[in-house]
Amino acid sequence: MSIHRLLLNARHPETIGAWVAEMAYRTAAPVSEAVTREITAGVLGYNDPLMLTAARESTARWLRTSYAWEVDPAQVGFVGDIVSGYAAVLRHFLPTGAPVVVPTPAYGPLLTVPELLGHPVVRVPGVETRAGHRMDVDGIERALAGGSRLVVLCHPHNPTGRSFSRPELSALADAVSRHQARVFSDEVHAPLNLSGRPHIPYAAVDERTAAHTITATSASKAWNVAGLKCAQLIFSAAGDGPVWQRVAAFYLRSVSRLGVAATCAAYDHPDSHDWLARTLLRLRANGDAVAEAVSAMPGVSGSRTEATYLAWLDCTALDLADPAAYFRSRAGVDLADGAEFDGPGHVRLNFALQEPVLAEALAAMAASLRELRGSGADPSHVRGGLTDRTGETA
Ligand SMILES: Cc1ncc(COP(=O)(O)O)c(C=O)c1O
Repeated sequence: MSIHRLLLNARHPETIGAWVAEMAYRTAAPVSEAVTREITAGVLGYNDPLMLTAARESTARWLRTSYAWEVDPAQVGFVGDIVSGYAAVLRHFLPTGAPVVVPTPAYGPLLTVPELLGHPVVRVPGVETRAGHRMDVDGIERALAGGSRLVVLCHPHNPTGRSFSRPELSALADAVSRHQARVFSDEVHAPLNLSGRPHIPYAAVDERTAAHTITATSASKAWNVAGLKCAQLIFSAAGDGPVWQRVAAFYLRSVSRLGVAATCAAYDHPDSHDWLARTLLRLRANGDAVAEAVSAMPGVSGSRTEATYLAWLDCTALDLADPAAYFRSRAGVDLADGAEFDGPGHVRLNFALQEPVLAEALAAMAASLRELRGSGADPSHVRGGLTDRTGETA
């Protein structure tokens, strides 16, 4: 059975699974070798301090060489995963009960975790322009003026696939600085940059952003090892390191030794970098295939993915009560439901599939829409397709 069928079909085995944010590709050889080495040697115990020191250095090196972001290895902390890191930031770096601004649409746990921890969420819908999704910085600033203390940035953005530009990040920094608020920047998708423009870590924009941000990153998305449990928090603000030191040992308990070994192999090994470069070429080509297919899907629109392997498809013109359920039952393609991201009427397609499977999924979606037209519900007057950053329809 292929890794695709094993990984992505678990929810509805009779469908093509394109919902969860996981690639249907085997990880880089150095990463699986590092994990295998630990298993073969029979060392499946706790983390050892030398490995953690090495992983701090690997992370700092990766951030420096990939994004020209200078991070001291001492500023790197470990958590099992990004969402646990988010919860840790809410618990230890925010006043009890302080409201949190989450721009929408948003990766579901970014919306739900604060409420679980007693922090009200102020949702600020983004704006869809012809050149793609934009944060509503004025709306975010109004929420900060109303008492919110933290802005949750997801950059690159899941689900829209935007990679925010320096002017956009600077505009957010202006708003956050004016209200002396903080930013949690989830940059787990940063290595999956398809745009050709470099990823700019938010904390690296200027001294202000370094001083008000905690960044979360991980090898988990780019090297497809989310199950190995090792994410990193970057404490670029001077006062944050000592706060983290008081609780770091607790969070280390959820960090897997295998994940630490995989992280070093992913960030350090030249073959892992080559693997990532090849994977990005593959994802770019798959993104092109999605754009071409969607241009033949009247009533389905969106923007080209700049980063991640996710396509955010606006199906509101189809006037379906539940587009994800429609594509699941009529096309046999299991997509993520936009409602989970506070984006009803949308679906999110994972295009990091084996190419024949992706082609089959796209063809089945297009065929199901032809069927919809045949049934009298006719979206064919609504132009479909994905626009690129210039607003041109692909
Ligand atoms: C933006 C974003 N953050 C966090 C996660 C989850 O990461 P983790 O499994 O490390 O918590 C995902 C997974 O899809 C994601 O897309």
